[in-house]
Amino acid sequence: KGMFTYDPGFVSTAACESQITYIDGGKGVLLHRGYPIDQLAEESNYLETCYLLLYGELPSQEQYDTFVNTVKNHTMVNDQIRTFFNGFRRDAHPMAIMCGVVGALSAFYHDSLDISDERHRQVAAFRLIAKMPTLAAMSYKFSIGQPFMYPDNELDYSENFLHMMFGTPCEESKISPVLARAMDRIFLLHADHEQNASTSTVRLAGSSGANPFACIAAGIAALWGPSHGGANEAVLEMLEEIGDVSRIEEFVARAKDKDDPFRLMGFGHRVYKNFDPRAKVMKEAADEVLAELGVENDPLLAIAKELERIALEDEYFIEKKLYPNVDFYSGIILKAIGIPTSMFTVIFAVGRTVGWIAHWHEMISGSYRIGRPRQLYTGHKQRDYVAVDKR
Ligand code: CMC
Repeated sequence: KGMFTYDPGFVSTAACESQITYIDGGKGVLLHRGYPIDQLAEESNYLETCYLLLYGELPSQEQYDTFVNTVKNHTMVNDQIRTFFNGFRRDAHPMAIMCGVVGALSAFYHDSLDISDERHRQVAAFRLIAKMPTLAAMSYKFSIGQPFMYPDNELDYSENFLHMMFGTPCEESKISPVLARAMDRIFLLHADHEQNASTSTVRLAGSSGANPFACIAAGIAALWGPSHGGANEAVLEMLEEIGDVSRIEEFVARAKDKDDPFRLMGFGHRVYKNFDPRAKVMKEAADEVLAELGVENDPLLAIAKELERIALEDEYFIEKKLYPNVDFYSGIILKAIGIPTSMFTVIFAVGRTVGWIAHWHEMISGSYRIGRPRQLYTGHKQRDYVAVDKR
């Protein structure tokens, strides 16, 4: 159409070159720096995968140890951040708090404003990866009126997150290794997914030369919506609304009805027209967690399992290639671990931070231009101003 290619929703426009993540949505393939996601989920851990995404290669033992220690050096937040929390309502959604406090990090680290210096870019990456779990847990503790927990650098990344979420100064939380591993897998499986809405937002914000904390705050905002990261929360809300296995058919019928805007949350994907490879691993992890916790009889989880079965056999879903996505199973695992629903998308944001930063860094380190999409104008032609008494 006219001078520009019209591609609403960017279904066929590549806006950049990237070496980080490869997806073949038809075949259900996801590779990070060439390594299949299922191998990473099975054999690697979140921080090692962070290293891989950021630097392009798996680390040697020494590189890994140095990386983990550097991240640990940055887990605390400036004490002024603690007071910043008091400006929020206690019932604020934790994602609302995250949009604010992550953006506010740029007010604390002035060196990050100079993105031309590679050392500044590196340290911003460490700070973000290290501080996201701390800020995420703080946003939860604030909402329930409990004191903030300091990070414990004796623990690994995911154990530490659970410690800050569930520990209190008077009682250490008991962290089961199975749950810590499930948490780590959730972070790992969310680590990157090439040019999705939030990552594209980070790149677009970054293309103007904005500092990385501000760019990641923009990514958090884009992630929040129910079509993207907000879906894991929406899945649980939907399961609650369904309420009973006997009502599943009714909701499936609504999802198929063209006149009803209702969609089955946790189903479908823009890129995957086959089983999302992350969802496969997440499904296994969900089974493991449910076995460990012995919550097979949880009514919501029973609804989820039955819904999955029915949708996978339904002609509408088969024909449109709508499979359960990563958010479907992650919601179930998080619910089983005891994470409140309002924190689900925050946890997605924690895991995705490395992907956002890796893409931002890849862009800034190469040659790039400010992102500036064009439009097809469909408004009025030029017309003359009319005085108010003549309108
Ligand atoms: N339930 C019922 N029908 C659906 C669903 C669903 N969940 N998803 C897509 N469809 C139908 C849709 O109505 C359309 O039908 P038709 O061709 O007859 O108009 C067709 O399938 C294609 O859908 P689309 O909206 O054109 O596809 P899209 O690529 O623009 O949207 C999506 C992808 C993920 C936003 C969408 O599938 C959806 O809304 N799913 C539910 C929300 C969700 O689970 N989101 C998480 C995505 S995965 C992780 C992430 O990105 O954060």
